[in-house]
Amino acid sequence: MCGIIACVGPRRTVDRLVTGLENLEYRGYDSAGVAIQNGSGVEVHKRSGRVGELKEEVPLGKQADVGIGHTRWSTHGPPTDENAHPHTPSDENVAVVHNGIIENYSELRDELEAKGHEFTSDTDTEVIPHLVDERLEETGDPEVAFRETVRELEGSYAIAAIMDGHDGLFAARQGSPLVVGLDDDAHYLASDVPAFLDYTDDVMYLEDGDVVVIEEDDLSLTDLSGTPVAREVQTVDWDPSETGKGVYDHYMLKEINHQPTALSNTIQGRADPESETVQLEDFPPETFEDVRDVHFVACGTSYHAAMFGAKMLRDGGISANAYRASEYGLQTDTIDDETLVVAVTQSGETADTLSAMRQAADKGASVVTVTNVVGSTAAREADESLFIRAGPEIGVAATKTFSSQVVSLALLSQRVLGDATTGEQRDDLADFLASLQQLPEHIEQVLDFSAAKRLAQHYSNHNAYFFIGRGVANAVAMEGALKFKEITYEHAEGFAAGELKHGPLALVTDRTPVFAVFTGDEDHDRKTLNNAKEAQTRGAPIVSVAPADHPSLEFADEHLQVPSSSPEWVGLLANVQLQLLSYYAAETLSRPIDKPRNLAKSVTVE
Ligand code: F6R
Repeated sequence: MCGIIACVGPRRTVDRLVTGLENLEYRGYDSAGVAIQNGSGVEVHKRSGRVGELKEEVPLGKQADVGIGHTRWSTHGPPTDENAHPHTPSDENVAVVHNGIIENYSELRDELEAKGHEFTSDTDTEVIPHLVDERLEETGDPEVAFRETVRELEGSYAIAAIMDGHDGLFAARQGSPLVVGLDDDAHYLASDVPAFLDYTDDVMYLEDGDVVVIEEDDLSLTDLSGTPVAREVQTVDWDPSETGKGVYDHYMLKEINHQPTALSNTIQGRADPESETVQLEDFPPETFEDVRDVHFVACGTSYHAAMFGAKMLRDGGISANAYRASEYGLQTDTIDDETLVVAVTQSGETADTLSAMRQAADKGASVVTVTNVVGSTAAREADESLFIRAGPEIGVAATKTFSSQVVSLALLSQRVLGDATTGEQRDDLADFLASLQQLPEHIEQVLDFSAAKRLAQHYSNHNAYFFIGRGVANAVAMEGALKFKEITYEHAEGFAAGELKHGPLALVTDRTPVFAVFTGDEDHDRKTLNNAKEAQTRGAPIVSVAPADHPSLEFADEHLQVPSSSPEWVGLLANVQLQLLSYYAAETLSRPIDKPRNLAKSVTVE
C-alpha cells in the first residue's frame, strides 16, 4: 500500500528512482512522483496516474546524489496531481514521501495553518514537510528537525525526506515497512526489496521506532530519542530475474506458470514419503505437543488458504478454525496456553493480520506466521515463521503464493497432528506426501492442456459467475470467485455448494455459468453434484472442474480437467484451472490484469 524508494550515491539517481517505482507499482498506482537534490535545491516531479505517465515528465538521465520517490494508493484525498507525493512546504526546501496514516494530522494542520503555513493537498502526509520546515527554522539542524517532527506524529508511517542544503536522506518507520539496501557506493531505502534488487541483495530491515540518516558513505541508525541502535545486515536470496515479466504478457501469467518451480521450492527437503516424515526448519519434533486448538488468521486469498489448513487439522482430530483477521477480535476470548495462532500472510505486512497477531500474543497465544517475506513485520513479530519460498510475487492477484501457502499449511498441519497428543496424522501419509511430490508435474499438465482460455472467451458476456464446492473445494470456489471479480470486474461469487439452495439459487439463470469444483472426495462430490444439477435445472450452464471420468461429466456442459490425486491436491489443481480462467476472462475484457483498479498488493491499513 504505497511504495517508497530512495537512493543516495553518485549515480543516475533519477533513473534508479523511476525503476524502483516501476518495481513497486504493485503496492499502489494512483499517482507517482520523485524529488531530487539538483545542486541548487529540491526539485519535484509528480502527477496522478501510473509510473509510465510520470516517466514522460521526469528528467531521465539527470545526475543527482540523493532522491526520493513514491507510488500512491489513495487513503486521504483522491488521486490528483496535488495529492501525489512527494509533498513540500511552500518554499520547497523539504520534500517528503509517506506510507501509512497520520492520525493526528488535522490537529497538526490546524496548528501549522495558524502559524501561516499554506496547504495545497487533501493528504495527511502534507503536515510532515510543513512540520519539518517549522522545526528546521527553530533548530537549524536537519537531523534534529526530522527527529522532532517524527516524535510529534501519531499513527503508522514509513517516511523518507530530503532537505535543501543537506546531502542526506532522512527516514523513519512506525508500523509500515522500510528496508535499507547496502551497495559499495550507494545506499537505497524502500518499502520492499524488489525496488532495488537489481543493484544489491544486502539489506537491513528497519524496526518500529527507528530513525535513519543515510549519506553516501555513512549511515546512522537511532531510536526516536537519538540513542544508536543496530540492525542485522542480511542477504536476501531472491533472484533479480524473478522480478521481471520474462516472456509473459503479464506478471500474473508468469506467476501462474511459475507454480511448479515455486512448489518444488516450497516442498524441498520438507517431506519424505518413505520415512513418512515432515520436517520444518524452525519446528523441531514436539514443538506442537501442547497444542489443542488452532486459530488461523488471514485476509483475502490467504484466508482461503487458511481454510485448507483448518480443514486438514480438523480431519486429524484437532479443533481448528480459519478467521478473517479483520473480524478476529472476539475469538481471542477463547485463547489459552494450548492455543496456537497461525497468521497466514504472503506479504507479512497486512495490517488486519498483524493486528490479529498482536491481539493473540497479548492473550498469551503462541503465534506462528506462514509468510513469503523473510524480514517482514509478521516474520519479526511471530514466535516462529514458516516461509513458503514462492519467490517474489508482483501481480496484485495472488496466485503462486496461494499454492505455496496451501502446501506449507498441509505440511504444518501434519507436523501439528504428529506432535499433539489429541491429534492423529493421516493414515495415508505416505501416499499423501508421494502425491505432493507429483504436484509440480500435475500443475505442468494443467498448464499444458487447460481449456480455460476457450471457456473464458465462450462465457465472456454473461451476467454473473458462480463457483461452488464443499470442504476444501469450498475454499477453492471462494478463491476462484475472488480472483475472477478482482481482475475481470465482473460479478462473481463463491458459495459452499450446499448453501446455493438457501438463497443464492434465486440469482441463477441461463446467464450465470456455475463452476462446480469436485475433488474426488466421494461424499462431498455426490452432494455437490446434486447442487450443480439443481442450478442446471434453473438454466445455468455447468462447468465441472474435476478429474477425468468424474460422474459430473455425464451432465455438465463443459469440463476443466484436473489430474487425479489426493482430494486436497485436486482442489489445488482445480484452483490453477480457475486462475487461468480468470486470467483469460480478464484478457478478453482488456482489463489491466496486474494492476486491477482500486487495489494494492500490500494492504497496510485496517
Ligand atoms: C487477492 C489478494 C488479496 C490478499 C490479501 C492478504 O488476490 O492478493 O486478497 O490475499 O490482501 O494479503 P497477504 O497475504 O499479503 O496478507
